[in-house]
Amino acid sequence: MARAKTTYRCGACGATEPKWTGRCSGCEGWNTLVEELVERASALRTAELLAVAVPLPIAEVNTDAWAPAATRVGELDRVLQGGLVPGSVTVLGGEPGIGKSTLLLQALAGLAKSGLRCLYVTAEESAQQVRLRAERLGALPPNLWLVSDTALPHVLAHIESVQPDVVAIDSIQTVYEPSLSSAPGSVAQVRECAHRLVRVSKERAMASILVGHVTKDGALAGPRALEHLVDTVLSFEGERHHALRLLRAVKHRYGSTDELGLFEMTDAGLAGVPDPSALFLADRRPGTPGSIVAPVLDGHRPLLVEVQALVAKSVIPAPRRSAQGLDSGRLALVIAVLQQHVQMPFDKYDVHTVVAGGVRTVEPGADLALALSLASARAGIAVPDDLVACGEVGLGGELRQVHQTARRLAEAARLGFRRAVVPVSAPLHLPGIEVLRVATLEQAVHLVCTDDLERRRTA
Ligand code: TYD
Ligand code: MG
Repeated sequence: MARAKTTYRCGACGATEPKWTGRCSGCEGWNTLVEELVERASALRTAELLAVAVPLPIAEVNTDAWAPAATRVGELDRVLQGGLVPGSVTVLGGEPGIGKSTLLLQALAGLAKSGLRCLYVTAEESAQQVRLRAERLGALPPNLWLVSDTALPHVLAHIESVQPDVVAIDSIQTVYEPSLSSAPGSVAQVRECAHRLVRVSKERAMASILVGHVTKDGALAGPRALEHLVDTVLSFEGERHHALRLLRAVKHRYGSTDELGLFEMTDAGLAGVPDPSALFLADRRPGTPGSIVAPVLDGHRPLLVEVQALVAKSVIPAPRRSAQGLDSGRLALVIAVLQQHVQMPFDKYDVHTVVAGGVRTVEPGADLALALSLASARAGIAVPDDLVACGEVGLGGELRQVHQTARRLAEAARLGFRRAVVPVSAPLHLPGIEVLRVATLEQAVHLVCTDDLERRRTA
């Protein structure tokens, strides 16, 4: 078969070159040229122009056919706000080994059990491997079709023959268009394949899920270009050494991106975690200096996490600062404020901080807990174990309220916490929890890292 004609287009200025060069002759940008197919059939374009859509009053636009179909994977449906919408294209991104194929298989099995025809195209593993996994997960419904293939024209032919309601491609980096000379996984290939699949999805009202590998720094390998092509981008995250997995929507055209899904990787696949706070706090050892619980908010979901600090005399001139699951910039800020406004020097101490359980907490609402865990570790005084803290620390040592304090504290109260240290501007009364309001970090440290609290309790 003769190769289709390809050209190289600059991603920055749109100029085209017949051959690849390192520098675009249009805008003189380096490494901006990406291979693409020259549109072969101008007839196709004409056909597209002829299929004219009819404008309607907005209230008369029919949405019945666009109701989301539940995947029956509760946490996934929570993030998608109902399920997969027909004709939608979803990218499921995550690091290798995080559990994307497992989640995909469970979701397809759920959709197939609801009577939808599903086609799973495995472009990385053999069909046998996927079947064995499906057996272990108890996911062998009759409506789920499986094929191992990598060439895009074959994939499109399989779609034509199976006529699925849902197609899954695992992964978009391993399918390729033979007409392009670029290697599978390159920007040119991923973009072309995704583009064609998006078109087929819209034409057939078929939902598509494209698995995409992301690199360590979180970018979808190759194309950020994918993100604007598709309707939904899901990000599957977690620490490889922890069982916890977090699912978020980075982009979602059919709802908000605020919902967080939580899973645990078990021997029988991914299991939803209905009560994450209880899970995070299960191994907590009360009475240890340097440990405090913070009610943080991930999307709409309040979570209680344990922030831990270890402060030890340093033997090196530039002491270590480590922040696991926390933002290292915020750690530096909190240490600076403790030194400057609470007169608590750390310059001869190594500081190690973690959020236990493998969650990542970057919101400013965890500042106060971080500061108190450092102060508690430095002073060697344990924070009372029925106490939580939330608030943002300002550069002047002042404390600022964070949004949805009431929801956070309600979650703390639900899990048995009785006292909360919060900024003065926080709500006055909350059922089930005593609110201790402080204006500055210094006051908070004095309140928590002294015996005052215990005396207040017995008084
Ligand atoms: P996988 O879904 O293959 O990850 P990805 O597609 O993102 O690369 O699964 C990754 C890991 O999950 C794998 O190392 C084995 C583990 N796993 C379980 O612990 N339990 C299970 O039931 C399954 C299917 C996988
Ligand atoms: Mg996989």
